[in-house]
Amino acid sequence: MINPLSKARTLISTTYSYLSDMSRFWTHSQNGRPLRNADTARAHMLRLSHALEKGMVLPAPRPGFGQDKIKALLGILQETSEKWGVSRVEKISLATIEQLVRYHDAAGLKLPDISAQIDRVKASFPELLIGDEIQAGPLSVSRAGVLATLPSDPDAFFLSRRSVRLFDSREKFDFGCLEHAVRLAQQAPSVCNRQSSKAYIFTKPADIELLLRYQDGNKGFGNTASALVICTSDLSNFYKIGERNQGYIDGGLFAMALVYGFHTLGIGTCMLNWSQAAHTDRKFRNVCRIPPNEVIITMIAVGPLREEYEVAHSPRRDVGEVLVLDDTKLLLSAGPAPKGRS
Ligand SMILES: Cc1cc2nc3c(=O)[nH]c(=O)nc-3n(C[C@H](O)[C@H](O)[C@H](O)COP(=O)(O)O)c2cc1C
Repeated sequence: MINPLSKARTLISTTYSYLSDMSRFWTHSQNGRPLRNADTARAHMLRLSHALEKGMVLPAPRPGFGQDKIKALLGILQETSEKWGVSRVEKISLATIEQLVRYHDAAGLKLPDISAQIDRVKASFPELLIGDEIQAGPLSVSRAGVLATLPSDPDAFFLSRRSVRLFDSREKFDFGCLEHAVRLAQQAPSVCNRQSSKAYIFTKPADIELLLRYQDGNKGFGNTASALVICTSDLSNFYKIGERNQGYIDGGLFAMALVYGFHTLGIGTCMLNWSQAAHTDRKFRNVCRIPPNEVIITMIAVGPLREEYEVAHSPRRDVGEVLVLDDTKLLLSAGPAPKGRS
């Protein structure tokens, strides 16, 4: 029989954790005010830029599409540049807008008002033109080009990623791989290209040891890691209640991409869960000072591979339990389909 006291404790902890999650999302997502701070505003700009960029690569874009969005985005660009300065997001927005103006121009549509507005913004903020050139808009890709990038045995490469729980010594670790792997992980897909994810990386043994005390799956091997990643997702990037779990999705994808990034570089990893109730999450945040607008997704232990080592087989379920292909029974009870939305 379940002890009534422990049942009550579980109920309190569950309620507290849900309320705490709700409060964090309510406080730090855009919540109807996308221009509230630099983070929310820049996420909003990336979302608008993405809509414009995506339009240019659709099979049959609406002629002249996106003009209202361009004007809105230019207005926001001006406002954010004034209030918070020019970051890479402002540059991405401008590059995307200019690309769309060129795109319409090539189709015979001149947009003199918008071009004049662009010139005014550029004149007001010359920083927008400084730095590396940002490639935005359509990118041509060939099937042969993609296939040429595959490893000689793609399945073997994919299947050789395993959770490693015994690393080689930190003397053999190339710390330069950390930024390299994060750059690769930045290629992870994210909702409207908003890129909410971050990687906090700790490399000092004493810091790793301290942080791992709060994690409950690293006993016996965590201390052999050369680096510890804390993956987070910034809630400022999300604007509606339907996105309440989006940080966990985008953050999870980023974490997976980071693990494969390390794998590509021949570095071992083991994901370390952050499946914690709100009170432990709170204590941990006091130690590592993750800002309150970010949710912690997972940790990842990272280290060099030994010449020989053992991993758990981790046998998989039957594929028939995982793959449900064309099961029309699932569709029979569906009512009329809603109008498609983008
Ligand atoms: C989000 C997440 C959290 C995990 N947390 C832990 C953990 O705390 N400790 C651990 O030893 N392994 C952890 N793992 C690793 C899993 O045990 C492992 O991925 C699974 O058994 C499959 O094995 P493989 O990664 O070798 O293919 C975690 C994996 C994921 C995706």
